[in-house]
Amino acid sequence: MNRKQLIKKYIEFFKSKNHKEIPNAPLIPENDPTVLFTTAGMHPIVPYLLGQPHAQGKRLVNIQKCIRTNDIEEVGDKTHHTFFEMLGNWSLGDYWKKESIGYSFEFLTKILKIPRSKISITCFKGDKDAKKDTESAEIWKSLRIKNIKFLGKKDNWWGPAGKTGPCGPDTEIFVNKFEIWNNVFMQYNKDPKGRYNPSKQKNIDTGMGVERTVAILNNLNDDYLTETFKPIIAQIEKLSKKPYEKNKQDTIAMRIIADHVKASIFILADEIEPSNLEQGYVLRRLIRRAVRYLKKLDIKESITKIAEPVFDIYNDYQELKNKKQILEKLEKEEQKFKLTLEKGLNKFKKFTKNKKILSGKQTFLLYQSYGFPFEMTLDLAKENKIKISKSEFEKELKKHQKLSKTATQGRFKSGLADDSNKTTKLHTVTHLLITALRKVLKDKKIMQKGSNITPERTRLDFNFPRKLTEKEVKETENLVNVQIKKCCEVKRLEMSPSEAKKTGAVGVFDKKYGNKVSVYCIGNFSKEICAGPHVSNTKELGKFKIIKETSSSSGVRRIKAILK
Ligand code: SER
Repeated sequence: MNRKQLIKKYIEFFKSKNHKEIPNAPLIPENDPTVLFTTAGMHPIVPYLLGQPHAQGKRLVNIQKCIRTNDIEEVGDKTHHTFFEMLGNWSLGDYWKKESIGYSFEFLTKILKIPRSKISITCFKGDKDAKKDTESAEIWKSLRIKNIKFLGKKDNWWGPAGKTGPCGPDTEIFVNKFEIWNNVFMQYNKDPKGRYNPSKQKNIDTGMGVERTVAILNNLNDDYLTETFKPIIAQIEKLSKKPYEKNKQDTIAMRIIADHVKASIFILADEIEPSNLEQGYVLRRLIRRAVRYLKKLDIKESITKIAEPVFDIYNDYQELKNKKQILEKLEKEEQKFKLTLEKGLNKFKKFTKNKKILSGKQTFLLYQSYGFPFEMTLDLAKENKIKISKSEFEKELKKHQKLSKTATQGRFKSGLADDSNKTTKLHTVTHLLITALRKVLKDKKIMQKGSNITPERTRLDFNFPRKLTEKEVKETENLVNVQIKKCCEVKRLEMSPSEAKKTGAVGVFDKKYGNKVSVYCIGNFSKEICAGPHVSNTKELGKFKIIKETSSSSGVRRIKAILK
């Protein structure tokens, strides 16, 4: 069974169990400032896991593209990937363990035809926070699964990925000793004091790794040999004139290149450009690391040649149709880095001549002057048996404050939004802001081009061709404050995207919406398609103030604003 067939069968199966398919969301999470990327299928549905009703109901299914960056350094083995696809199904306070495990078992044995004897299971063994999950183990036993192990939090617990929020024990499903599916039973809510309280709404959140499952279904023990990677590997073999799996170091280099190029293409396709900030910096690191490994394999051709097969493997992704532009951006970053790569490598040699250690200052210099991301220098150090310290490098980095605060605050990790009150308020006021801008600037085409909300401030990017005048900024601010003072009610309605469009709601009307959407109305002033969460009345908001209005990119302005 191939990738496309697996996805189709999974979606069809869960639809037959009354699940509604939700769209494959962008890699850049909307309304979740705690993470840089969508790291699991549950990200786009965080508000619904926290109790908000979903317009499609209580049973959802999808295929979700994901990026995980916390273990970029681990990529190189057979199973770690930066970009991967996850199949998932959810119960939002609907069915519970018996149905969830039953569905997984039925899908594996009846649809994928995996013999029961090849399946093994792990369940949560219990600790001071939560009891042993004998309930799940009993359900598996009733399905005549014999190989069941109990493990601790490290293995059989999921979330909260942030500091607080829904979490719970999980049961992991292994086929031939490889983990392919994780069923999470979100029955606890971790509070800021670290206590695990039983949650009001019990949810099911499952995730099945597509690459891994395709490997299993085709009797392969290496994801890079499946159709999700093989054409990329074949291209690397051709250009390097080196066979895959002959020499260990070359094989690792090939996997890293294949992985990083694929991830870079998908990030570029979601309109992120290489930069020194946030998602852009992750992208830059991936491209540069791949370029260095291409050099190691003596490949002279451009990285874009390696990227070609990605577009064929994933020809079901609309956003990859923009191939020419994506490849141009990839090549531009490659060219930029090639200008300093050689010089940086010489510098590294000089620093480490007759030495076994590279200092934090030297590592930082390679980063600052030659554009060497930390993990690239780490790779070089490892290859040359040189010691290097991440914390020393970070100390230097902090001194220079080159990276954004958020990046150093651990936003590379995945996480449920810390749904703080402050973030929610700023979210609501961002809706007022976009409507106010449309009115003050008399431009109905103004749309949100990006949003990032932290408990301290909101940041809104919107299309507009010029700098705002001081008067316009003041007027916008005043208009928002007038709405706040009016004590407008904030209401959530459900409708089809076409109805929403007819009634003039703000939204990007493309295929990314399902057949029902949530529309938030603030008094008679603002109407916007949004997943929430929001305050219930504008009187909760306080005083609105714009603190900065700058350019974000060509034709896009950026406003930072606070609530006092
Ligand atoms: N959220 C869980 C995971 O990432 C299940 O999808 O494994």
